[in-house]
Amino acid sequence: MTLTVLDHPLAHDLLSRLRERGTDPAEFRSLTRRLGWLLVIEATRDLLAERISIETPMEETKAERIAEPLVAIPVLRAGLGLLDAVTDLYPDTIVGYLGLERDERTLEPRDYYAKLPRMDGRRALVLDPMLATGGSGSAAIAHVKAHAKPTSISFVCIVAAPEGVARLEADHPEVPIVAGALDRELNGVGFILPGLGDFGDRLHGTV
Ligand code: PRP
Ligand code: URA
Repeated sequence: MTLTVLDHPLAHDLLSRLRERGTDPAEFRSLTRRLGWLLVIEATRDLLAERISIETPMEETKAERIAEPLVAIPVLRAGLGLLDAVTDLYPDTIVGYLGLERDERTLEPRDYYAKLPRMDGRRALVLDPMLATGGSGSAAIAHVKAHAKPTSISFVCIVAAPEGVARLEADHPEVPIVAGALDRELNGVGFILPGLGDFGDRLHGTV
């Protein structure tokens, strides 16, 4: 398993603003989308490309075109915040949805919705901003594997906890993780420290 943590001044800046308690939902959405661009670019660094010939106004030349389209799978609700970043950069992305909700007491994910398309020939990006215990991320990847055959699966998150990284490494060792930050630990009720609180609530303006 590979864990890549973004190391770019813009990523650090955006993440610091997301973490701040006072950031309102409108700003939170905008920051998420911009940080999402950086995450998606990193997660697609090794997409398959094909060599083609094109005509510039000057002469014929060789060029590259992407030969591995994407399927984005946001995990509801919080993963919706990262979806626009994928479709902004890769407009021919197709989209599947997984609804998972963590039980506040047991911290186990409960799945309440799944609508996944065929994924043949596409790279699957599972989008979930918070990788805490890893229960939701692991369940989301398992759903994708059970349903479809993408060329590969990558997991994209904004904040990862060591516990969640270890869980994905154990359950899905072949799935690379791209994260905005690797934080210190989980607290006693499964929240990431220092973290940024409840991502879904902050994104959607709910409490
Ligand atoms: C959050 C988050 C992840 C999950 C992470 O979702 O978006 O899906 O918790 O925790 P885990 O790694 O311990 O499973 P939540 O269940 O709060 O639902 P929401 O997105 O609808 O708010
Ligand atoms: N889900 C969140 O939204 N935040 C956390 O810190 C952990 C799980």
